Amino acid sequence: MSAQIWVLGGTGRSGRTVAARLARLGLTAVLVGRDANRLHATAQRIGGETLPAPSLAAAAAEIRRQRPAVVVNTVGPFTATAPAVVDACRAVGSHYIDLANDVPALLAAYEMHDAATQAGQTVVTGAGFGVTATESVVVKLCENRPSPLRVRVDMVPSIAMEEGTAGEALIGTLLGSLDGRRITDGRLAPARLFGDPVRLTLPDGSRVTTASMPSGELLAAHRASGARHVLSATSEAPSSSLIRAMTPALSALMRRERLRSFATRRLARVRVRAKERPRDHSWGHAVVTWADGENREGWLRLGDAQEFTGAVSAEIARRLLAGEGRPGVYTPAALFGPTLAESCGAAYLLTGRGGSGKR
Ligand SMILES: NC(=O)c1ccc[n+]([C@@H]2O[C@H](COP(=O)([O-])OP(=O)(O)OC[C@H]3O[C@@H](n4cnc5c(N)ncnc54)[C@H](OP(=O)(O)O)[C@@H]3O)[C@@H](O)[C@H]2O)c1
Repeated sequence: MSAQIWVLGGTGRSGRTVAARLARLGLTAVLVGRDANRLHATAQRIGGETLPAPSLAAAAAEIRRQRPAVVVNTVGPFTATAPAVVDACRAVGSHYIDLANDVPALLAAYEMHDAATQAGQTVVTGAGFGVTATESVVVKLCENRPSPLRVRVDMVPSIAMEEGTAGEALIGTLLGSLDGRRITDGRLAPARLFGDPVRLTLPDGSRVTTASMPSGELLAAHRASGARHVLSATSEAPSSSLIRAMTPALSALMRRERLRSFATRRLARVRVRAKERPRDHSWGHAVVTWADGENREGWLRLGDAQEFTGAVSAEIARRLLAGEGRPGVYTPAALFGPTLAESCGAAYLLTGRGGSGKR
């Protein structure tokens, strides 16, 4: 096998987008997946080599045998899939990238920092739209500044949906996120899910409502800023008051492992219709407030959020292949700074700067 970048889940929405972006960078991906026919059809369309592996354990065994330089894991939920793949990568000196965007997966990834550092391995987690778009704005706003008191990040994705099923990877990740969390006094603390709604006016003049939903963005924004209080919100949080009222009961139910697995399997099979992108741009947004009252607001503007996910993972894979990483566990902007998002086609708009503090 000649190509050095492997994409696990190569037939999925994210896997295909990552591989297509790698091809645009002049890099050949090895698409790894469970279904040889679908892998072959995908490779015919977007390029790349194929490696059928009937399970993730089989894929991990192949990593140990064939030692790719970089592995991009797009098979969620990452709390379940990352440990064995990261271990296999570490054993043979492969760098690892995944698209995790939930709190438990990022916490588990950060736990691996010392082992990765000692092994000289780079692990990049959160290499998708949500974490990268919001974290990048926070890093940009906090550059050369002391730690702020408070940060709120909002993600406003715009994604075209193809017809098909949602799939267990995506649904499993979503159901695993239904537990309210925020950073209070520097610690991860319980919070009301879908709370703190804010009506945002986007830089293009359109309006959306975002509400809190704990995600990898929360932890990445906390690490990037060092703020004592952090909240992460999204325009994907349901705005209906009925759903908000039902949320505590739903969260409690989803903490039961067997029930969550059952719901994941059922919802994963529900067919979704093809849908156009609801707006021209996706946005990452952050408001950062310092103890003296100064606050800064910034936006990251990009196109389709799924395309951006592919671009971010592919660009990170390219850089790791070129030896530009460093050992340890990082989120994208923590490793490569705020310019990474720009090199993936996004642009910053820093709109607000106010308060009573010195500038
Ligand atoms: N950070 C971000 O902003 C961001 C952005 C996009 C996606 N994501 C995350 O990325 C993950 C994938 O999303 P997606 O939309 O690409 O999902 P998807 O289209 O359903 O693709 C998932 C892929 O994983 C494979 N897969 C699923 N379960 C597997 C298992 N048990 N063993 C081996 N392979 C398995 C599927 O293979 P089969 O075809 O054989 O089933 C498919 O190729 C989700 O967790 C999602 O939350 C994060």
